[in-house]
Amino acid sequence: MNAERIVFRTGKTTALVLLEESDAPQLTRWINDPEITRFLTVFTPNTLEEEIEWIKKISSRQPNEFIWGIWQLAEKRLIGTMGLHRISYRDRVATTGAIIGEKDCWGQGFGRDAKMQLLDFAFNTLNLRKICSSVLAFNERSFRYSLACGYQEEGRRKLQLFSDGQYRDEIFLAVFREDWLPLWAEYQQSKIQEEVK
Ligand SMILES: CC(C)(COP(=O)(O)OP(=O)(O)OC[C@H]1O[C@@H](n2cnc3c(N)ncnc32)[C@H](O)[C@@H]1OP(=O)(O)O)[C@@H](O)C(=O)NCCC(=O)NCCS
Repeated sequence: MNAERIVFRTGKTTALVLLEESDAPQLTRWINDPEITRFLTVFTPNTLEEEIEWIKKISSRQPNEFIWGIWQLAEKRLIGTMGLHRISYRDRVATTGAIIGEKDCWGQGFGRDAKMQLLDFAFNTLNLRKICSSVLAFNERSFRYSLACGYQEEGRRKLQLFSDGQYRDEIFLAVFREDWLPLWAEYQQSKIQEEVK
């Protein structure tokens, strides 16, 4: 672990770390990359100054929104960001979003590892009961990673969003705490076994 980073949660292959202003150039590169933004609702150019402001304002958005960096433990580098948004402490629900900006890291389980840490915070610290997400139907990787974290499909909006020259279905997903707890127990057990090896 890089002693310079402030770690919030440590998983098997990733840690959730606090974002720093010096991360802004990397975040700006990711948020302007069409291979990434085709999966998001962000589509206009974002400047370095805007990203610096976005990072600076993170603490002012608490307690209704939390955002972290995803840190790859083996390579000691920042590979993405992940957030818990629109937290309602009355309904005890929130939504999540993630970007793994370093594309060589896609599909290797880093997203799932980071998301399990985030869900632990959401369910076991904040006492939320249901976490939602939405994905464009053609984003199979995001859909599969969500299912691997316990999310289930709740419904679809047909041809709702325009991306990459086509209207796309938007899939709504959600995970309830009681459905996630067995996955968390399994995840923690395998983490302990890996640490003992
Ligand atoms: C979506 C994202 C956060 C997922 O993180 P990740 O580390 O790539 O995902 P994981 O490796 O943890 O899980 C990927 C799952 O999809 C599968 N997968 C990997 N590549 C895939 C592909 N090209 N198509 C379909 N499934 C794929 C994996 O096998 C795994 O499923 P499994 O658990 O059933 O085996 C990341 O890929 C990303 O940031 N993508 C670009 C931006 C984005 O789409 N953000 C989310 C918007 S809703």
